[in-house]
Amino acid sequence: MAATPFVLGLVVVTLSLQLATLASSANCSYDGVAALRSDAVQASFNPQWMDGLWYEHSYEDVAQAGASCQTLTSLYNNSTGQIVSQFTVKYGQTPFTIVEKYDTVEGQPKGVYRKSVDAPFGIPGGHLIGLKTAVIDAKQGTSTLQYESLILYSCVAFVQELVFFSRRPTIDESELADMIKFAASQGVDVAADSLQRVNHTGCDSHTVSEPLVLSPLLV
Ligand SMILES: *[C@@H]1O[C@H](CO)[C@@H](O)[C@H](O)[C@H]1NC(C)=O
Ligand SMILES: *[C@@H]1O[C@H](CO)[C@@H](O)[C@H](O)[C@H]1NC(C)=O
Ligand SMILES: *[C@@H]1O[C@H](CO)[C@@H](O)[C@H](O)[C@H]1NC(C)=O
Ligand SMILES: *[C@@H]1O[C@H](CO)[C@@H](O)[C@H](O)[C@H]1NC(C)=O
Repeated sequence: MAATPFVLGLVVVTLSLQLATLASSANCSYDGVAALRSDAVQASFNPQWMDGLWYEHSYEDVAQAGASCQTLTSLYNNSTGQIVSQFTVKYGQTPFTIVEKYDTVEGQPKGVYRKSVDAPFGIPGGHLIGLKTAVIDAKQGTSTLQYESLILYSCVAFVQELVFFSRRPTIDESELADMIKFAASQGVDVAADSLQRVNHTGCDSHTVSEPLVLSPLLV
């Protein structure tokens, strides 16, 4: 399969890592991302409540250039504290899934993770790139045992990713605008003109079904 924008994105991230050793202006640290979390996440983030299917609605992420139909299916492992997420995207007509791993970081509080990927096409070394990641906010809806909206932030050197999710394929524009505003108010450097919108219209039916909850603990 030809190189995709995602793979190019990985290369960009890798190159950026190398460049970062030259650039002293980069400000990406675990303490820095931890400071961006909402009060609710700081007080009581429960990674189990992230379980299940999420629809991306907006993102800033160079690795996602050219992608569509982005969804995330998250599963918390309560013995390791790790979250494993299947990130499913389409590039043109080609769907594929990238396995993302979110590992807790020693000495860091709730909602702070080292994110890495199992790179597609057997490309080695994805796990070696660790993005400093924080849950900026996670909100419960009417169900108290799962989150209904989610904002994730990751950085490595001077590359950043910011992603806004909900449980449904559509989102009210004002709700999305509020989420973006909230991220900015928490101190995330939101470049409004580089935020991309995901439109799930026309995506495969499995990604536009009712939210799927994987955790047996929720029933
Ligand atoms: C880096 O980020 C941290 C946390 O957000 C902040 O306290 C610090 O002032 C920043 N440093 C620079 C050089 O911007
Ligand atoms: C959780 O992680 C442990 C250790 O890696 C593994 O043995 C177990 O199968 C995992 N559980 C689930 C539900 O994935
Ligand atoms: C962890 O998950 C397993 C199955 O997914 C469940 O049986 C167990 O009770 C859970 N343990 C805790 C401490 O929540
Ligand atoms: C998504 O695309 C559909 C069909 O192209 C369009 O009708 C709809 O307005 C779009 N939604 C957004 C939020 O842009």
